[in-house]
Amino acid sequence: MNITVIGAGYVGLISAAGFAETGHRVICVDDDLRKIEVLNAGGMPFYEPGLEGLVQRNRAAKRLEFISRIEDAVAQCPVIFICVGTPPLENGEADLSSVELVARRISQCARGYHLVIEKSTVPVQTGRRLQKHFSIYRNNPQFHFDVASNPEFLREGSGVEDFFHPDRIVVGVDSEKAAALLEEIYRPVLEQNFVCPVHQGCEKRSRVPFVVTDINSAELIKHASNSFLAMKISFINMVADLCEAVGANAAQVAEAVGMDKRIGSSFLRPGIGFGGSCFPKDIQAFVRVGQGAGCDFALLQGVERINQRRIDQFVDKLKNELWVVRGKRIGVWGLAFKPRTDDVRSSPALAIIRRLLTEGALVRAYDPQAMEKAKAEIPEIEYCADAYEAARGVEAILALTEWEEFLQLDLLRVRQVMTRPLILDGRNMFSRDTVTAMGFEYLDIGSGAHVQKLLLGAR
Ligand code: UDX
Repeated sequence: MNITVIGAGYVGLISAAGFAETGHRVICVDDDLRKIEVLNAGGMPFYEPGLEGLVQRNRAAKRLEFISRIEDAVAQCPVIFICVGTPPLENGEADLSSVELVARRISQCARGYHLVIEKSTVPVQTGRRLQKHFSIYRNNPQFHFDVASNPEFLREGSGVEDFFHPDRIVVGVDSEKAAALLEEIYRPVLEQNFVCPVHQGCEKRSRVPFVVTDINSAELIKHASNSFLAMKISFINMVADLCEAVGANAAQVAEAVGMDKRIGSSFLRPGIGFGGSCFPKDIQAFVRVGQGAGCDFALLQGVERINQRRIDQFVDKLKNELWVVRGKRIGVWGLAFKPRTDDVRSSPALAIIRRLLTEGALVRAYDPQAMEKAKAEIPEIEYCADAYEAARGVEAILALTEWEEFLQLDLLRVRQVMTRPLILDGRNMFSRDTVTAMGFEYLDIGSGAHVQKLLLGAR
């Protein structure tokens, strides 16, 4: 099928490459000429494991191309996926101006039948607005359309895997024609009938659930899913605070709580909070949607509040250890909001560094992938060639992103270059026993070890 994907960000580029890999002819459009140039020159606008190969292979096979004019794509493709950004406005509502702009361009040039699918994360009733928009602004009365919602659930860092092995595919439609077209588009993924570009010798997997509902419900499924995952994280962080206060072990609490199949163990890792381009903005947007509809969304406001407080709590923990932070050298391992990505949007690591700079600390940082993007945000700190360099002459190491690479480090060598062997683990990535056995002072999130020590000491 001829498909156009408008927007070459994470969702757009991964979807475009995925659709091409499963046999469709895909035209990916972005109005950022620089990005299109980079892609047509064989480069990538961001780091995502496995995506570069997928893009190159499908460009070479002429199943995937990158252009900047929507009109040229719409003329060739009956199916249009809208994957543009919906960043937050000042008041937290989702900014839909890019979605509307795309809709306007489609209205002006479309002829014949088109299925227009919103894949960007949008508030409920956006699909209804798109339908109304096309009815009002279509230039050509021969432009017949269906609007559908097809929310994306891919995670950065494993986006390619999530495209090919999703938990479910959700579509919101108003017509059987739209549902049938979307089922056809996703058939290879639904039937898990493709050569897996992620796993060598990938086992045949069971059919992926195809959830067909109305447009409003599909839009809500996305916001509700992300908000629930973020709620799990804030919940375990709330419990971790209590564990620190009373002398319990949050990691063990989370493990046992997660063993309950009704709860599940994923997204129960305590830490410095959730970041990224999705959870923070989707929670804000969902709260606005809920309040706008006269519903009590205080629960999610609590999730946001707990998450925002993680930064101060972590910096206070450091100040409690270092007494005065001003003029002290602090080493930071990890800048990305999570491992396997170079994305620093709403990264808790950057928020902590900003706090440290206001306290007058001198920061040396290292990240395997995200330093260029971090430099654009915080140019005034020292970016180091590796983790050892970031530890040189520092009073403390802050472990802020759980890159696998940090677990392979020679910690004895790290200890030798540090001024004080103190590690504050914001992602509970290290083993307390291993690190303390090497002579480090070690503080993690949620284990009231120091309270236990105090309690034990008291006896
Ligand atoms: C998320 C959703 O997972 C995905 O389905 C959706 O499509 C987009 O938003 P992503 O933002 O890539 O994906 O990151 P995710 O892996 O969900 O992590 C989000 C944040 O939560 C990260 O900062 C991560 O460090 C943090 N996190 C995650 C925790 O603090 N604890 C956990 O247990 C899990």
